[in-house]
Amino acid sequence: MGGRLLRLEHLTRRFGDTLAVDRVDLRIPRPQMIAVIGRSGAGKSTTLRLINRLIDPTEGKIYFGDGEVTALRGRALRAWRSRCAMIFQQFNLSGRLDVITNVMVGCLGDKPLMPSMMKWFGPAERAEAVRALDRVDLLPQALQRAETLSGGQQQRVAIARALLQRPHLILADEPVASLDPANAARVMETLVSIHRDAGISVLCNLHDLATARSHCERIIGMAAGRIVFDGPPESLTPDAVRRIYGVSETELDLETAGAAAPRKQKDGQPLVAAAG
Ligand SMILES: Nc1ncnc2c1ncn2[C@@H]1O[C@H](COP(=O)(O)OP(=O)(O)O)[C@@H](O)[C@H]1O
Ligand SMILES: [Mg+2]
Repeated sequence: MGGRLLRLEHLTRRFGDTLAVDRVDLRIPRPQMIAVIGRSGAGKSTTLRLINRLIDPTEGKIYFGDGEVTALRGRALRAWRSRCAMIFQQFNLSGRLDVITNVMVGCLGDKPLMPSMMKWFGPAERAEAVRALDRVDLLPQALQRAETLSGGQQQRVAIARALLQRPHLILADEPVASLDPANAARVMETLVSIHRDAGISVLCNLHDLATARSHCERIIGMAAGRIVFDGPPESLTPDAVRRIYGVSETELDLETAGAAAPRKQKDGQPLVAAAG
């Protein structure tokens, strides 16, 4: 049975001379809560964008269930994109619109929001948005303008919006990178509960090892476009951390502590340890 198995085969993407994703093989045999970790420039975002077909692979294939995702064109491709709900670090809400309207935008799939589309939102969409907001514990805020919410709340609105896409998969690119620890934990818990209740996989690019360990059942470590670790948190040994980051976890923590001060770093450039 094909089911909802996601399979990446030799997935490769070049940008000029840069091998952003390098022959990645991956099987997600059942709905899983997955963290993708690695340095900036390791290929995490490119992998997510390949999966939702925002960009095309240079080589390799993606399968979901019985279908080949990399073969989809036209309407079928647009349908796939809207079934891969994306969550971004910056939430991407319309701040002036109320929360429930932001959530209903999810039912537009990958169409951009235009004022004329507001008329598409009927009682059915509204009811679904109410259910989604209830699931992320934000029903009381439904009529507030999105910009009046805290960052963590805004990210949960984005998750509710994702639910209206009736996703096969949630792809979250650094969803908690701009949140304080308490809000980050709350957002991660929300993603975990949706993974469980909806029975869908969540692939979550994460900067923070501790977040990956505490919320994800499977951790995929990437370095220079390749998967260099794939296993449960308890297998993430000091050796594995070194393979992924090139430094020990202590050194990594020092870098992160240094990042509290402004950290200017170009994608793909190794971080220089900021701590003295
Ligand atoms: N659109 C693009 N054009 C050129 N290079 C890109 C593009 N997107 C990503 N890259 C390069 O591909 C590599 C992987 O990037 P990315 O997937 O964003 O890494 P990560 O998300 O792990 O930080 C980097 O070297 C980055 O500079
Ligand atoms: Mg990225």
